[in-house]
Amino acid sequence: MSYQNLLITEDNPFITVTINREKALNALNQQTMSELARFFGEDLPQRDDVRGVILHGAGDRAVVAGADIKEFTSLQGEDGANMARRGQAVFFMIERSKVPVIAVIQGFALGGGCELAMACHLRIAGEKARFGQPEVNLGIIPGYGGTQRLIQYIGKSKAAELMMTGDMLGAEEAYRLGLVNYVVPMGEEMGKAKELLAKIATKGPRAIEKVIESVNAYFSTSEDGFETEVKSFGEVTLTEDFKEGAQAFVEKRSANFTGK
Ligand code: COA
Repeated sequence: MSYQNLLITEDNPFITVTINREKALNALNQQTMSELARFFGEDLPQRDDVRGVILHGAGDRAVVAGADIKEFTSLQGEDGANMARRGQAVFFMIERSKVPVIAVIQGFALGGGCELAMACHLRIAGEKARFGQPEVNLGIIPGYGGTQRLIQYIGKSKAAELMMTGDMLGAEEAYRLGLVNYVVPMGEEMGKAKELLAKIATKGPRAIEKVIESVNAYFSTSEDGFETEVKSFGEVTLTEDFKEGAQAFVEKRSANFTGK
């Protein structure tokens, strides 16, 4: 796994992915988007030993300050639509990852940065984190799924306001609105993310995978979420982990899940 703009740190069974363009506040240029696609679309799916991923940005000023504005100033029409389509496809790979992906947000999560954080399954914010979809300041709109996911998290009314004004949300307000799972003091973000992943890693991996699938199905227009739940429930009852989990309960001990 060799990357130019991503740092991949292994701490088995977890991986930390750092977007490493600190001078540009980790703005998502096309190279970085291709590398995210390679990690989440090709490398991670081949790793059945991984139980969770932490995604964050280098430094403490921004997780990501948006798509790289300097790269797309000359885009027009169909090229713009294609950029949005490709970006959405990358973020779907994150959202559909079989292992939980937690975004750690220190500083700005703006534009594509907010969209990236929203594509993750859980979000931990530092108290100085700031969220926003300021694309209208540039005369454009969110293109990596932001118009849809922001509504899913905080509701139509507030989402529309944020996208029309370009205003930012502080960490506490983002928490109050349901955009982030936890707000922690500066410097404690990674620790909280690791604590959460460690807890999730004690559960059955196939069950976690099916929770992710079923939650995603709620927002899918091509799936009936209840039917996805039924199918997933049937599938997890076939796993060795289910037998182990039930047996461990009866024997009053902790379950030892293997992901089989
Ligand atoms: N794309 C490309 N470069 C970006 C960037 C982006 N989205 N966001 C920040 N940068 C770069 C700046 O150009 C600057 O680089 P330079 O020193 O070579 O000029 C560097 O990162 C630091 O940013 P700067 O603006 O000097 O920091 P600041 O503390 O004054 O402001 C922000 C921080 C996040 C408020 C400001 O950078 C900003 O508004 N960024 C754009 C946010 C945005 O609109 N995102 C949506 C894009 S679709």
